[in-house]
Amino acid sequence: MKKFLSVVLSAAILFTLGGCDFSKRSKEHGKERNKVDYVKQEAGGASHGKGSAKVGISMPTKDLMRWNSDGDGLKLKLEASGIVVDLQYAANDVSTQISQIENMINSGCKVLIIAAIESSSLESVLEMAEAKNVTVISYDRLIMDSPYVDYYVTFDDYMAGTIQGEYIVESLNLDNSAGSFNIEITAGDPSDNKAAFYYSGAMDVLHPYISSGKLVVVSGQVDFDAVATPMWATDTAQARAENIIAAFYSNGTHIDAWLCSNDSTALGVINALSYMYPGRYPVITGHDCDLANVKCILNGQQSMSVFKDTRTLVSQTVEMTLQILNGNSVDVNDNASYYNGRTTVPSYLCSPVFADSYNYKEILIDSGYYTSDQLH
Ligand code: BGC
Repeated sequence: MKKFLSVVLSAAILFTLGGCDFSKRSKEHGKERNKVDYVKQEAGGASHGKGSAKVGISMPTKDLMRWNSDGDGLKLKLEASGIVVDLQYAANDVSTQISQIENMINSGCKVLIIAAIESSSLESVLEMAEAKNVTVISYDRLIMDSPYVDYYVTFDDYMAGTIQGEYIVESLNLDNSAGSFNIEITAGDPSDNKAAFYYSGAMDVLHPYISSGKLVVVSGQVDFDAVATPMWATDTAQARAENIIAAFYSNGTHIDAWLCSNDSTALGVINALSYMYPGRYPVITGHDCDLANVKCILNGQQSMSVFKDTRTLVSQTVEMTLQILNGNSVDVNDNASYYNGRTTVPSYLCSPVFADSYNYKEILIDSGYYTSDQLH
């Protein structure tokens, strides 16, 4: 039961129960689904001549490795299918992202693939997209507070959180061990709706252990607001971890686990532990399998990272983009969970897995995601 979400998203559930006919959305929005005279090309046979369509890709930042893989992967695959691509990165600056999207709309993009920097800041630019019949795919992060988000493609974020929670339960063998274990929690950016999914997935697994006293949050900081990390910033996560270690663990108290919602926040926690905490590294979770963090997994500083293979997300998004451009029905597998404050966005959820020191070779190297040289 998604307890946290059921509270946060109760309005969404009510809305959904109230009945939302997705088949009508395109007509309501006056969109003819951009049925362009587009001919799908075989990979390698790309043509930008008659029939090619233009797609805009707006990524938040080049700073995190994952967004570079996403952006490059999408561009490459779309171009291989004969699409003209405008790929922009917005240096985590909201107004830059908005003006890049405006340019994409004005230059004739038929579909926009957007990973929002701040999920609630795109309302007026999406109104502009709607007025020009541009279809909007919210990529990885759900765009909030706009009725003009046509599709959402992401990994199952709640599941990503439960994988982290279960990893902690199993690593500490909580169901079979005597005594109690100490844990701290670092969550993501409150302005990114995914952060609540990751947190609630993990906390729904961990809460029973916290309630029974098997897990003790020594700092007492449990609520999302208390553990959130604006902008997912490594420095901010580090500063908070330093305060916690200084206040609660400098007397030799052990930290057994540190739930971190993603890799950039895990790095902050690892930095703080590396110079302030003399004990063994606790079980530390993350997600993204960023290179720096996989190296931390290999040298024993981080325990696991949820792996959302961006290639899966990229392929699914490209598939949906081609379906839109061809006027075909678009793959979705969740019509209920992602209410953005204005509409419940038809979504496609991919399943994440995790990588740790035992399986990283199979998951990350054998799959061709990284070469072994990159990791050593
Ligand atoms: C993504 C994570 C990423 C985080 C920070 C989230 O929206 O889902 O994969 O770690 O943003 O960029």
